[in-house]
Amino acid sequence: MHILLMGPPGAGKGTQAANLVKAFSIPHISTGDMFRAAVAEGTELGKQAKACMDAGKLVPDEVTIGIVRERLAKDDCKKGFLLDGFPRTVEQARALKGIVEELGLPAVQALDIHVPKEDLVERAVGRRLCKKCGATYHVKFHPPKAEGVCDNDGEALCQRADDTEETMQSRLGVYEEQTKPLIDFYKAEGVYTAVDGRQPIEKVTEDLLKVLKG
Ligand code: AP5
Ligand code: MG
Repeated sequence: MHILLMGPPGAGKGTQAANLVKAFSIPHISTGDMFRAAVAEGTELGKQAKACMDAGKLVPDEVTIGIVRERLAKDDCKKGFLLDGFPRTVEQARALKGIVEELGLPAVQALDIHVPKEDLVERAVGRRLCKKCGATYHVKFHPPKAEGVCDNDGEALCQRADDTEETMQSRLGVYEEQTKPLIDFYKAEGVYTAVDGRQPIEKVTEDLLKVLKG
């Protein structure tokens, strides 16, 4: 199963990715998570990524394509993978097509989580994360059992630096301009399906699984 999860910031890509990779036992490859790990480690990549992420802008294509190329070449991707947040520009999508062909892998299936713009800021601003296990919550839509604490490991929940209303406006603008054109790109490739992301989390997972299991 070679899956590409698309959708605007806050649409639920990370939330759905966690459910889908469990169902298919495939690696979850999130460029956002890779950049956040590099920021936490203080590497050169992290320094470059942090400036872009804090501004709600994209990390340059050549940097992003390079790290994805390296990741997809690993053995665990042969049986499948789920890409979350990549590609985000037409140049990245063209590069991905080339990488997949070079590696002799089947074409990716693009699944788009559709959520109207007016819901996205509330989703991002209310998001809470566990740094230890990566679980994602929402103060209103998906609260933990005990306020501010992860259900899995009791760790205190935190917020992402770019989950402010101001940075979200910039991220949404970037999505409209640079990422939305991918819908036409994948429609033209004949591999595009959209699902309604306004439904409860479990129902969105059910719809995605229905598409994937054909
Ligand atoms: P990235 O980390 O990919 O962020 P994003 O695309 O902006 O998406 P998010 O992670 O914010 O949202 P999500 O769709 O995963 O939603 P989630 O499931 O968490 O990228 C961050 C930055 O890294 C970028 O801005 C850029 O700088 C850089 N970057 C990354 N990839 C790049 C690339 N390819 N090229 C260049 N730069 C790149 O859900 C959100 C909230 O909603 C949660 O609280 C959740 O609990 C809740 N929720 C989820 N589903 C539902 C539902 N059905 N109903 C109600 N609430 C829900
Ligand atoms: Mg995410």
